[in-house]
Amino acid sequence: MEIREVAVVGLGTMGAGIAEVFARAGIGVVAIEADPQALRHGLGTLDASLSRAVSRGRLAPSEQAEIRARVRPAAAFSDAAAVDLAIEAVPEQLEIKRQVFAELDRVCSPEAILATNTSSLSVTSVAAGTSHPGRVVGMHFFNPAPVMRLVEVVATVLSDESVPMTVAALARRLGKVPVEVGDRAGFVANALLLPYLNHAVELLDAGYASAADIDKAAAQGIGLPMGPLALLDLIGLDTSLSVLEVLHGEFGQPRYCPAPLLRRLVAAGRTGRKAGRGIYSYANGQATGADAEPAGVAGGSAPDTVTVIGRGDDQEADLATTLASEGLSVTRNPAHPSDLVLIVADVGQPVLPAALAAGRGEQAVGVHFPGGVRDCPLAELVRTSLTTKSAMASAAALAARLGISVVQAPDRPGFLVGALLYPHLADAVRMAQHGYADAADIDTAMTLGCGYPRGPFQLIDAIGAADVLAGLQAMYDAYGYPAFAPPPLLAEHAAAGIDFAAAGRAAAR
Ligand code: 3HC
Repeated sequence: MEIREVAVVGLGTMGAGIAEVFARAGIGVVAIEADPQALRHGLGTLDASLSRAVSRGRLAPSEQAEIRARVRPAAAFSDAAAVDLAIEAVPEQLEIKRQVFAELDRVCSPEAILATNTSSLSVTSVAAGTSHPGRVVGMHFFNPAPVMRLVEVVATVLSDESVPMTVAALARRLGKVPVEVGDRAGFVANALLLPYLNHAVELLDAGYASAADIDKAAAQGIGLPMGPLALLDLIGLDTSLSVLEVLHGEFGQPRYCPAPLLRRLVAAGRTGRKAGRGIYSYANGQATGADAEPAGVAGGSAPDTVTVIGRGDDQEADLATTLASEGLSVTRNPAHPSDLVLIVADVGQPVLPAALAAGRGEQAVGVHFPGGVRDCPLAELVRTSLTTKSAMASAAALAARLGISVVQAPDRPGFLVGALLYPHLADAVRMAQHGYADAADIDTAMTLGCGYPRGPFQLIDAIGAADVLAGLQAMYDAYGYPAFAPPPLLAEHAAAGIDFAAAGRAAAR
């Protein structure tokens, strides 16, 4: 079936992005939005995105005009009568979606495909309320739709066989990569992404770390394209809350239970970038204000003499060498007086016992390099319950002098990078362990849908299953949360010393 014209219902952030994607591929778009103000806003989003592409030299002005001419704004469903496919991107509430589908069912030809861009709702429930459920399918785009390459194609038990195939072919024509996923809440990418984002909000609410540090830890410590809090603002806190509610309703696990702070921000209308305010405040598309600034450890002066304490391994030697090469006086003997004590920290071990053993608790700051000392863009400065503010400020000033980016973390298992990352990786492993999706598909979903440079299983392979297991076990021992319990599949990989890529190849032989 050839798709020549489509209807996009709902011109919010996602709808406008989806309309752009179709129009760029040469497909005519009827952009349906009943609210004139929302229609104007949606078209403004589309225009801004095209203009940005022109200003970056990615699109000729003539192409911009051609693309724009393919988008026909409309206020009524009747304008969708002749389309080959209609896709809705209205708010994430089943009742609203059902109403939209009832209208589309009424006006569209029986051959037209009806697609939902739902983030988490049951496609089967939406389909079941229509007169031709076989033509209903999930076609899930990722934000920003013009950029992210993944499209999750969701068939239901009611779908005609040809419909998901047509939609997958269409996705390829749009320059996207279709992945067929089962009709389960959150499909693959959101079921994995949202609990991680939710956890970041919980850490923020608990005062575990500042917003800027949480985002920096994810971006620089894990290498993700953006931090979880900035991503929440991009997706929309209201959308994220709705997805979490659906996930929590379906799976019942505490990790999906929306963080109270998320609910409060949504109730306050702080729904993210689109509202100009979410976790951060925005001016001209940029996060501004105190929340966007790194935590307050400014004002310290870099030390002249530093005591380095470690486990006698390469990390300790590397740090001592780096400091000495910068002209600092470095000692490894805690009995020698110095301005600052740096304790090379291990992610599974608290810093405090080493600080107490050195008899220098107030001056001792843990330092952890998530990627090893050399070439690591980020260091975690770990504050024990004895560390003074001036010691933290001094360590921060030292890092600034060395050109090392830092985040502050409490002396708890995982520090900050691990606290964000390990439970997220455990979720991915559990997903594979429960047969929800295989490791390769999960990696594809997260790299193409969320811009991860490496998928969760590639990350585990890079860090080492044994190290991830040790970090998680330490978190589980400390907190006892089921979400932190190391999944048996991870323990098997750690014990066998086999990475997930190799296991995938072996299974295919
Ligand atoms: N609309 C259109 N294009 C956009 C855009 C937008 N809102 N934001 C960025 N772009 C384009 C830019 O024009 C640029 O294009 P070019 O390479 O052709 O010049 C490209 O994206 C890169 O943009 P920037 O250089 O300005 O910025 P970054 O390199 O920092 O990338 C980002 C921005 C693409 C948003 C990147 O940070 C990223 O990939 N973030 C992760 C996004 C993510 O995880 N999305 C999935 C969320 S989950 C979801 O949507 C599911 C839903 O159901 C909840």
